[in-house]
Amino acid sequence: MFIRHCEAYLDQNRLKKAVAKTAVTYLLSKIEASSIVGIGTGSTANFFIDELAEHKDSFYGAIASSNASEAKLAAAGIQVFDLNSISDIDLYVDGADEINPQLQLIKGGGAALTREKIVATVAKEFVCIADSSKWVHKLGRFPLPIEVIPMARSYVARELLKLGGDPVWRQGIITDNGNYIIDIHGLWPIEADGTLEKAINQITGVVTNGLFTHRTADLVFLGTEKGVTTHRYDGNTDL
Ligand code: 5RP
Repeated sequence: MFIRHCEAYLDQNRLKKAVAKTAVTYLLSKIEASSIVGIGTGSTANFFIDELAEHKDSFYGAIASSNASEAKLAAAGIQVFDLNSISDIDLYVDGADEINPQLQLIKGGGAALTREKIVATVAKEFVCIADSSKWVHKLGRFPLPIEVIPMARSYVARELLKLGGDPVWRQGIITDNGNYIIDIHGLWPIEADGTLEKAINQITGVVTNGLFTHRTADLVFLGTEKGVTTHRYDGNTDL
């Protein structure tokens, strides 16, 4: 049982490395020496940083979506900037917890959703990289992360209950912004019309939610057993 679990983990890492490599090749075809690149958070983003480090002289610097990624980038010798000193991010590369055929996402498994959503919003292009286990027909099996102001945690949880989910406080986790995370279980299926993302944002005390139904990915590289597949949404996906 343990050996099978380890094999699955190693397989997943192999797929994550493959998409990270593909994303670096794509990035090199799009950027210039003056480019600023946005870098996400998580195990897939970490593989991407490892690959990118070999090409650190091909672009100007990076914006990180978390303190952890910032430290990893700095250790690789990539200059990291404060977003307030930068007006344009040419390309943002990050992982996801779920991806639907419209390239809408659930993010925040690593508690970095707020900075991830900010960097994705500023970026001209958002490239999502993941292994094929993240591809779903409808979002919502993965518990939806919500970043909340600590004093509003109980109030926000009561309001989230009214939306039909089961909110669970991710105890022991403080975000890079000093806030708490609540994960909403049992929301499947989340409709693709964007109403839930807006409704959660309306709750006072919510900083951000992990639904990316408005700022979707522009491009997804998915690591599958048959190789890396490329996905764009042309508006015609059969829902
Ligand atoms: C962090 C995230 C990550 O992108 C997401 O959790 C995927 O992580 P991994 O690449 O480790 O599977 O949203 O907040």
